[in-house]
Amino acid sequence: MTTLKRAQGAAGARVLGLGAYRPRRRVTNADLAETMDTSDDWIQSRVGIAERRWAEPDETLIEMAVAAGGKALAASGLSPDAIDLVIVASASLRKPIPGMGPLVAHRLGVTRPGAFDLNAGCAGFCYALGLATDSISAGSARNALVIGVERLTDVTDLTDRGTAVIFADGAGAMVVGAADEPGIGPVVWGSDGDQHTAISIPEGLPHMTMAGQAVYRWATTKLTETLLQAMEKAGVGPADIDVFAPHQANLRIVESMAKKIGFPESTVIARDIIQAGNTSAASVPLALTALLESGEAKSGDTALVLGYGAGLTFAGQVLNLP
Ligand code: UT7
Repeated sequence: MTTLKRAQGAAGARVLGLGAYRPRRRVTNADLAETMDTSDDWIQSRVGIAERRWAEPDETLIEMAVAAGGKALAASGLSPDAIDLVIVASASLRKPIPGMGPLVAHRLGVTRPGAFDLNAGCAGFCYALGLATDSISAGSARNALVIGVERLTDVTDLTDRGTAVIFADGAGAMVVGAADEPGIGPVVWGSDGDQHTAISIPEGLPHMTMAGQAVYRWATTKLTETLLQAMEKAGVGPADIDVFAPHQANLRIVESMAKKIGFPESTVIARDIIQAGNTSAASVPLALTALLESGEAKSGDTALVLGYGAGLTFAGQVLNLP
């Protein structure tokens, strides 16, 4: 058997730029209470959401992905030609053929990259970031654009108070590139397929259903271990984490996770859900971008991120902010 040449990968990968797109239309809890039996008090106290963004017809998955991806590219300082891998994570694509990756890349002027979509539910962005980081370390890519984009309103029954008050739309993106020192730690990922139907679009239904309490229990009991493993693999501990940005599914889950890990008081906790609702695969890059834009997080900060959701899937890693 002929011995094949080994790929020359980079020593590591780091985040070079972030970008976000928030749809124009704000929907407050009071707006929802006009059309369904809910209240600002219930939503704020059970989920922590004050308002969310719902995309208008022209704010398609592609348009939002291109907008967020373009901002991340601009922030990275790279030209589109430098990108050789584009991964678009989403769980709300209603027509899967063709995938979005190649068109998003084309619209951004990225020529002939590896480009594809990835569906790992609300964990999609962190899965995609793990793949991009490993591709750079393996030598399959030099610079990658990773996007999380959702129009969950397309797959939500907007008259069902159990889901309509939670799910929302938006896009977040990150450019990652080769580095001499790792600025993104190893991904810790996994799945619990025995709970496959906990978040699903059941056969014959156009909309998502969610076993909210079961997912809540799972998220607050099973994922602490993933957070600890992600820190251990990156060689850091809770005291080193400047920013904790888990998937924005429920503010009570965010607070519970933070309490269980025991971060120092100085750790900034992402609470983007208050303004953005649950944007699934877009929530982690949206939350990080918001913290950088507000100045609560700064360049060089060490962040711990975690995605989790339909599948059930989970993925987390530690990264240094650009
Ligand atoms: O992003 C993917 C991962 N997803 C998650 O992590 C979600 C995890 N789950 C959750 O965040 C929570 O379970 C929810 C926010 C989805 C629901 O909160 P909950 O505290 O578990 O409420 P529940 O479903 O147990 O419902 C409690 C009560 C019910 O009324 P009864 O049966 O006790 O009379 C619901 O009908 O609250 C009622 N309810 C509402 N009331 C007012 C449910 N939705 C609403 C609403 N407004 N929007």
